[in-house]
Amino acid sequence: MDKPGVIVPKPHANGRALPVPQFAGLAGPGPAPLHCPTETVVSLLFTPFELNAPRGALTLPNRIVIAPMCQYSAVNGEAADWHLAHWTSLLNSGAGLLTIEATGVTPDGRITPHCLGLWDERTERALGETLQRARKNAPPMPVCIQLAHAGRKGSSAAPWHGGGLLKAGEGGWQPLAPSALPQLPDEPPPAAMTAAQLVEVREAFVAAAQRAQRIGIDAIELHAAHGYLLHQFLSPLSNQRTDNYGGSLENRMRYVLEIFAAVRAVFDGPLGVRVSATDWVEGGWDSAQTQELSRRLKALGCNFMHVSTAGVSPLQKIALGPGYQVPFARDVRQACGLPTTAVGLITEAQQAEDILQAGDADLVAIARALLYKPRWPWEAAVALKGVVQANEQYWRCLPREAQGIFGNVKIGMR
Ligand SMILES: Cc1cc2nc3c(=O)[nH]c(=O)nc-3n(C[C@H](O)[C@H](O)[C@H](O)COP(=O)(O)O)c2cc1C
Repeated sequence: MDKPGVIVPKPHANGRALPVPQFAGLAGPGPAPLHCPTETVVSLLFTPFELNAPRGALTLPNRIVIAPMCQYSAVNGEAADWHLAHWTSLLNSGAGLLTIEATGVTPDGRITPHCLGLWDERTERALGETLQRARKNAPPMPVCIQLAHAGRKGSSAAPWHGGGLLKAGEGGWQPLAPSALPQLPDEPPPAAMTAAQLVEVREAFVAAAQRAQRIGIDAIELHAAHGYLLHQFLSPLSNQRTDNYGGSLENRMRYVLEIFAAVRAVFDGPLGVRVSATDWVEGGWDSAQTQELSRRLKALGCNFMHVSTAGVSPLQKIALGPGYQVPFARDVRQACGLPTTAVGLITEAQQAEDILQAGDADLVAIARALLYKPRWPWEAAVALKGVVQANEQYWRCLPREAQGIFGNVKIGMR
């Protein structure tokens, strides 16, 4: 006990405090708890999960992953006050893993001039210090960063400014891509990457991973989804190279596998890949190719797959609906046996639990629902009789129906 009248959650083996799944109750008069988690079956969503890594496993306190979400609020690539507020809020959400937004490994690897970066000492310091400050004001939560290069989708305006291609005079730049094929037919083409540029960008991923490790980021997710550079190499719709990096599946996977292997050599935490499992276009990248990629990544030491879809072609026809990408996650999980994250229109606690219970995924990622309700995991804990960690300042907040979700905590006053 750290303070009189206060029982704190017991420290976990890896130094992180994990919630104790039993109810202690509030001190003083108050309503009786409606449920007691010790008497109920613990949901899978609120069961800790271990992500393996060369340095040892990273324990997630539960299976709710905060999906990466661009904020378009960095200043010259540097994390800013917005990130401090945003990360502090998400770190107080009770989720099991925070994934920091797509973070450019080079300035021209950003989607917009306002995207977060990790390409030099300046951006490393800003990201490291801002994250450290956010972490001081929240319970411990593992943090993953999504390292990204936008390729031909770079040099765009922020979404709230229309998201269109920016010219050089408007703060834009010449985007790079596997082939000189524009994202939209009426746009000027990107520059097809030279052999030297392939090496430069690969080395930029490596350097960013080293920076991430230095500033205490626990895990890395390489962004090979949503039509950005690595996905552009995978998809025959955007990759029409005639060298070793285009044509056959083997050749189209080559760049992603090379970057993965290079990052794996320097980063010893959990390292995973976010993929778009299908382009939703006939003749594009598809589930079977994704499954083969996942097996190849596993052989190179990949620790998790994060399965999304789409983004490479304006011709995509997406079959939208609740959990619409879950079948793709299930197929990847079955193909490679790696821990797999499902994402996309997962909005309800029971829906998330059912996905895990069915064995379709090991983790569920939530994006928009967590912006809308930053305490989504607290409400899920109420629904599934789970336990989340909350900062002491918030321990008195629980309404009657939520008693017990902070575990074995107790407050006193006189
Ligand atoms: C504001 C916003 C920003 C996003 N930024 C990223 C990103 O940085 N990287 C990424 O892979 N996906 C990004 N996405 C996609 C989400 O991670 C997620 O895959 C998608 O929103 C579907 O999940 P949801 O239905 O829970 O929102 C973003 C989505 C939103 C809404």
